[in-house]
Amino acid sequence: MSVETVITGLRSLLGDRLATSNAVRDHHSHDSSWHPAALPDAVAFPRTEAEVQAIVRLCAEHDVAVIPFGAGSSMEGHTIPTRGGITIDMRDMNKVLEIRPEDGLAVVQAGVTRKQLNTELRATGLMFSVDPGADASLGGMASTRGSGTMAYRYGTMRDNVLALRVVTADGQVVRTGSRARKSSTGYDLTHLFVGAEGTLGVITELTVRLHPIPEAVSSAICAFPDAQSAVACVIEAVQYGLPMARVEFLDEVAVSNVNSYSGLTLRVAPTLLFEFHGTEAWAAEQAQIVESLAEGHGGADFVWTADAEERGRLWQARHDLYWATKARRPGCELYTGDICVPISELAGQIEAARADIEASFLEGQIIGHVGDGNYHAGYLVMRDSPEEMAEAARLAERLVERALQVGGTASGEHGIGLAKLKYLRAEHGDAAVELMKTLKRAMDPKGILNPGKLGQAG
Ligand code: MLT
Ligand code: ZN
Repeated sequence: MSVETVITGLRSLLGDRLATSNAVRDHHSHDSSWHPAALPDAVAFPRTEAEVQAIVRLCAEHDVAVIPFGAGSSMEGHTIPTRGGITIDMRDMNKVLEIRPEDGLAVVQAGVTRKQLNTELRATGLMFSVDPGADASLGGMASTRGSGTMAYRYGTMRDNVLALRVVTADGQVVRTGSRARKSSTGYDLTHLFVGAEGTLGVITELTVRLHPIPEAVSSAICAFPDAQSAVACVIEAVQYGLPMARVEFLDEVAVSNVNSYSGLTLRVAPTLLFEFHGTEAWAAEQAQIVESLAEGHGGADFVWTADAEERGRLWQARHDLYWATKARRPGCELYTGDICVPISELAGQIEAARADIEASFLEGQIIGHVGDGNYHAGYLVMRDSPEEMAEAARLAERLVERALQVGGTASGEHGIGLAKLKYLRAEHGDAAVELMKTLKRAMDPKGILNPGKLGQAG
């Protein structure tokens, strides 16, 4: 069988960096999503781009699937090898190759995680801003076009990737982009690979944009009577031109989950959590501006802090929400929906999603990167309950349908993965989806790169 030939070939190439044990295959059979697991035939741990090329070439020769794997933190099943094959785990390609403070950029291998990069950057006074919560790999974040809590001010992966090196389906290396801040040369291949979910090539190296670490940081938290007033407050701050570094919405269920998991005592109400960057005076002034805007929208219990420990506690609680929610029901999965709409539509969408949850037998919470019009609804389900899985799928479907009706998108930042392929036509139209498939066929004629996902199905 051809996969066995590939495994034999890879073993002589990689030695014990080709794993076929049940434990390693099992670890690579799932991600952080609710999607059912599927085992790869083997897992390769390359250390160089040349090894990635050799793996892809061998797989192409024998029509064996190649599944790129970063840190396993996808929320949409991107790395699940639904058709078996060889998973390429990029964890050993984890070197920060170059930091250029004057140019505000770093060159990194794809397995570098955002925490690792920020640790190595600290002495330079610069930071990598994209923060999806999990300690994702940069290759994975680029592949899924991730973003997270700081995108309103600093942009998403799309805005922060300047250049790439990618191994394509025929084993060649393609260089895309440049180090220049802008360029008007040729098709934008960088942004074709950013968000391609490993279906057009395996990203091996990224040149990313860096931002100055702010001199001062302050945080604020405020409760609101309802989602409408919280979002109205943010819209006013956006119109004011306030450069909020983070602005997160938590519904009352999320707040109560945070309280019980992280030992906080926040008022249980729709809440906004802010972060401001700047000089000490400017970070404080932004908070004052928001406080007065919040008052106009019924905001209550406004608390502001510049204290690093207090801020750390608040944001850790926000980042732990995934675990806080799962902790409500031992053994459950969080079935997440990730939608993005024009911000003027956000409050209506959140309220409709909340009403759906109230009318359902499932428990669920809503959180949002509100400055971007992006929100996630998460439903607690038992994977082995067909009724619960079906109900969560129904609720998640309603989220997407409502978002598309108002000019929004089926995914703000978690990507298409497995379950959202079916919305591509509704969002982009037949001609655009056919063009995506034409691109996929041209760039991966044998369909070996992350098969069954973007560019093939949908
Ligand atoms: C977040 O915003 O925390 C992440 O996108 C993950 C999640 O949906 O919980
Ligand atoms: Zn998010």
